[in-house]
Amino acid sequence: MEQKDEVILSVKDLSVSYDHTPILRGINLEVRRGEIVVLAGANGAGKTTLMETILGINVPDSGAVIFEGRDITGAPVDKTVRDGMTLVPEGRGVFASMSVMDNLLLGAHHELKGADKKLSFVFNAFPILEARKKQLAGTLSGGERQMLAIARALMSTPHLILVDEPSIGLAPIIVTTIFDILLKLNKEGYSILLSEQNVYRAFKCAHRAYVLETGRVVREGRAEDLLKDPAVREAYLGV
Ligand SMILES: Nc1ncnc2c1ncn2[C@@H]1O[C@H](COP(=O)(O)OP(=O)(O)OP(=O)(O)O)[C@@H](O)[C@H]1O
Ligand SMILES: [Mg+2]
Repeated sequence: MEQKDEVILSVKDLSVSYDHTPILRGINLEVRRGEIVVLAGANGAGKTTLMETILGINVPDSGAVIFEGRDITGAPVDKTVRDGMTLVPEGRGVFASMSVMDNLLLGAHHELKGADKKLSFVFNAFPILEARKKQLAGTLSGGERQMLAIARALMSTPHLILVDEPSIGLAPIIVTTIFDILLKLNKEGYSILLSEQNVYRAFKCAHRAYVLETGRVVREGRAEDLLKDPAVREAYLGV
């Protein structure tokens, strides 16, 4: 059931610095339940920093992160994951010297009870991972590794998934597979915040989008409207 009016994530006037250098300045952003929201921006715009701050890996200088109505600014990452938010990190972050199965179980480490059910759910969604479950994650192809990273995130039974540049380094046909997976997960009810440089592909599957430039939101709106925005087209689509 889609409930696109309910705000699942709200970022309010968030500012973040690294070593006193301001990186994010006054970011306001929302994800409603059932949405795919894209965070677009070039290298260094601050996409990863924003996702890591939302999850609690970074502590902001000011501002707030509200998740499902609760202020989680500065809350421990573990607790936020238990409460239903997860991150599929840039570069996948799978543990190369561990098996596919052990990587998946790590995703459920805070609640191993019910892990069997979650495993059958992710193996159903990603049959290739079941076939490769005993294989070391380091021997997977790039696309399989991205699937593993998404599957591992699903093992924590999230309501909101932050996905940081999933398409990077993948062949176009695999990118299509990954976007299809995200769309399918969204149809099943997962809310998704997706960062991407592959703006055209991402906007095509998103409800709304934010464009980040040097740590500021410079455009926001419905993805289909932004695809027609001349400034966005020139900066991100080269047309
Ligand atoms: N740990 C850190 N210490 C200092 N500066 C950092 C750190 N991490 C990121 N930065 C800087 O913050 C800015 C934003 O980086 P960030 O990784 O968030 O951008 P991004 O939009 O994710 O880029 P990309 O598309 O390349 O992944 C960059 O200028 C980067 O150099
Ligand atoms: Mg990044």
